[in-house]
Amino acid sequence: MSITLEELVSLCKRRGIIFPSSEIYGGFAGFFDYGPVGVEIRRNLLNWWWDFFVRSRDDVFGLYPAVIMNPRVWVASGHVERFIDWIVECKNCHRLYRADELLEEKNIKITDYSPEVLSKLIKEHNIRCPVCGGELSEPRKFNLMMETYIGPIKDETAIAYLRPETAQAMFVNFKLYVTYARNKLPFGIAAYGKVFRNEISPRGFIFRCREFEIAEIEYFIDPEQANDCPYFHEVDKITVKIWTKEMQKRGKEPKEMSLGDAYNDGIFSNMWHAYWVGKSLEWFLKIGLSIEHLRVREHLETELAHYAVQTFDIEYYFPFIGWKEIEGIANRTDYDLKRHMKFSKEKLYVPLGGRKVVPYCIEPSWGVERTFFAVITEAYTKTSDGKTVLKLHPKLAPYLVGVYPLLSKKPFIEKAEEIYKMLKKKFTCFMDTSGSIGRRYTRADEIGVPFSITIDHQTFEDDTVTIRFRDTREQIRVKISDLPQTIEKLIEE
Ligand code: GAP
Repeated sequence: MSITLEELVSLCKRRGIIFPSSEIYGGFAGFFDYGPVGVEIRRNLLNWWWDFFVRSRDDVFGLYPAVIMNPRVWVASGHVERFIDWIVECKNCHRLYRADELLEEKNIKITDYSPEVLSKLIKEHNIRCPVCGGELSEPRKFNLMMETYIGPIKDETAIAYLRPETAQAMFVNFKLYVTYARNKLPFGIAAYGKVFRNEISPRGFIFRCREFEIAEIEYFIDPEQANDCPYFHEVDKITVKIWTKEMQKRGKEPKEMSLGDAYNDGIFSNMWHAYWVGKSLEWFLKIGLSIEHLRVREHLETELAHYAVQTFDIEYYFPFIGWKEIEGIANRTDYDLKRHMKFSKEKLYVPLGGRKVVPYCIEPSWGVERTFFAVITEAYTKTSDGKTVLKLHPKLAPYLVGVYPLLSKKPFIEKAEEIYKMLKKKFTCFMDTSGSIGRRYTRADEIGVPFSITIDHQTFEDDTVTIRFRDTREQIRVKISDLPQTIEKLIEE
């Protein structure tokens, strides 16, 4: 059964997952709040990422950096000058639009993101202001960095920026981490946190926000060993649709191939780059996205960020808005470290043998909002009787177990409380006593609770309860004393 974005948005609001920020004042475009259910799913998602990419590895170290950095960081990084979108202005009503989005909305394929080509396409296809039909201006630069003032005097000298990425903190702290990694390469730094971008047109629910969370790894490699990744065999069999820039320019469809074959065909800038694309795909598969809904798209030259020589986006197929980027994996080379060396005069290299190596950086960078959006889109299902079930992976579910008394009467409620208290020591749990048992199951299904435990008449005869499975609605009977082990086994399965 197909679903609409309106249905998903409505579920998110109704069930305390996500809703617009400051809603009693009419909301604020591009800003969202996570409710009691959403915040749990979001934490589970980020914790899982941290476990998978940091805690379970010996070569990636964590960093939790400040949002606001010395403004010179952003001059050195090139963001002040070049972190831009091309926008056009309606000559009549003066509304502003992203040039590429106006074209994409009309299904016009863009194979060159330069301002000259965007302008040509707008003229060729007679694209006009979507609101008043007015003529559009030539594309001009629009910097996405948000500014604030630091200190008591609000003048030019007090301007600082809300970070648009966490990456720069990893570059400016590079020296400390070289020591931490004992002067060896490769190693990575991982950071996550809120970032801010003054998006000209926030849209697609939480797809394009002005405040969102990013989770990134800057992985530093010796340029001379760029094709020497000892872990590539872990991911080289992953087979996925790959869309190179050449295929896009020649109007060809993406081709399904293994990462190993794609690497051997010279598609990736180096083996470490291919590895991080693979590791990112492995993570998306783990959290429940299906490979059919994922593809790897190479950036066109004119689309590349100012710091990258090659970038692959992992795109997810959203039924409402089509294929869209949820993660970018860029080869940033030594661009950032060299820029910071130049501007700060610090020596940012790794002493390796007799060499002073300024490493190359491979950067897998994903957005929490977009991935959250993909996860709930994938999990959202409708049963044949029209009920909603959020089939989240148990590790992402807001609660693992719901506990319900069959009847809202004293002995049932007391027993339910006893079981709830016992299980809460081990699992994320909630108890629901309101409405009928059917309604409680429905509510639990809608927020993705995988296991529902019911205390019924038989409980008082033989000390058993039922466990109902969210995805199949099947039930089994289990001794109360066996509940913790049974649930643990079910999670493992
Ligand atoms: N440090 C690299 C970097 O920032 P990016 O492609 O600009 O790369 C990384 O952003 C990820 O952040 C994207 O893959 C996407 O998931 C997410 N993202 C980017 N802009 C976003 C926005 N306006 N709203 C929500 N998520 C966004």
